[in-house]
Amino acid sequence: MTEHISLTRYLVEQQRVHGRIPSELRLLIEIVARACKRIAIQVNKGALGEVLGSAGSENVQGEVQKKLDIIANEVLIDANEWGGHLAAMASEEMEGIYVVPNRYPQGEYLLMFDPLDGSSNIDVNVSIGTIFSVLRKPNEDPTRIEPVCESDFLQPGQAQVAAGYCIYGPQTTLVLTVGNGVAMFTLDREQGAWVLTQENVTIPADTQEFAINMSNLRHWDEPVKRYIDECLQGREGPRGKDFNMRWIASMVADVHRILTRGGVFMYPWDKREPNKPGKLRLMYEANPMGWLVEQAGGAATNGRQRILEIQPTELHQRVSVVLGSKNEVDRVTRYHLEAPQAA
Ligand code: AHG
Ligand code: MN
Ligand code: MN
Repeated sequence: MTEHISLTRYLVEQQRVHGRIPSELRLLIEIVARACKRIAIQVNKGALGEVLGSAGSENVQGEVQKKLDIIANEVLIDANEWGGHLAAMASEEMEGIYVVPNRYPQGEYLLMFDPLDGSSNIDVNVSIGTIFSVLRKPNEDPTRIEPVCESDFLQPGQAQVAAGYCIYGPQTTLVLTVGNGVAMFTLDREQGAWVLTQENVTIPADTQEFAINMSNLRHWDEPVKRYIDECLQGREGPRGKDFNMRWIASMVADVHRILTRGGVFMYPWDKREPNKPGKLRLMYEANPMGWLVEQAGGAATNGRQRILEIQPTELHQRVSVVLGSKNEVDRVTRYHLEAPQAA
């Protein structure tokens, strides 16, 4: 019989054998995973649970909130506020940070999340997900008495201590890194348990598959146009091989495919709103996904700079994203650096 390794056992081993994670962080990850199970149950109910459709409100990004955006946000907050492991949380769906209320003890970690990624896919029954990122509260000054604040979150992605996502698709899968490679856990619904189904996830360095929203082509910058145009020329073009294309419009689903079989994903800056660096958010989309991809041997840049080295200045900061198979990401980055005057 194949031995089943649970998420709990995996985390205990990371703690004990590899000395990677303190018990507080282990608790935090288990609670996030439990919250994802609760979100998965709501997602599965669909129309029967009256969870589809718009909530009739807007978030700080000016996006219309779906009912599930709000439900998932509440589930994550309710699950995480009482455990004593967190100081504060931040979410795509909340303008400011959520400080753990006084009635609970405050811990040393900061949790950020995109509670429901791929909102436009909820009502059409296509894979969606939850993305999360964990930082430690900075404590350089032991005499500090000020409460946790937004600037405590503004740490580059390389300071993350855990990151992952849960994809609600044909299977519900939790994908996690604590800085020791990437592991995938599939939800066993009969047992209600997360079972380790893949360890040491590796993204091949080369690929013949790209993911980009092609409808924005006319707005892109030259280096992105050049890269995609060369792919489209296929076997007859400078790349000498044919490329395939996929675009799911859920970053979790596109990244999951890339972690599974390789590929390159791009959501670049475009000319429509030149002052906006990109569509995706640095702190709770690009950083956790960038770290997972790097931990699987891939690369993640904003076209010029490694995502994980970007010093954030705002909680809801946006960023241009190129991630996936290393040789393709390096090529796109080179095209940007070679461009005479990129925006
Ligand atoms: P969210 O649903 O959290 O706002 O994120 C959606 C993001 C990302 O998941 C996806 O890659 C991208 O937006 C899709 O954008 P388009 O609708 O422009 O294709
Ligand atoms: Mn998202
Ligand atoms: Mn979202």
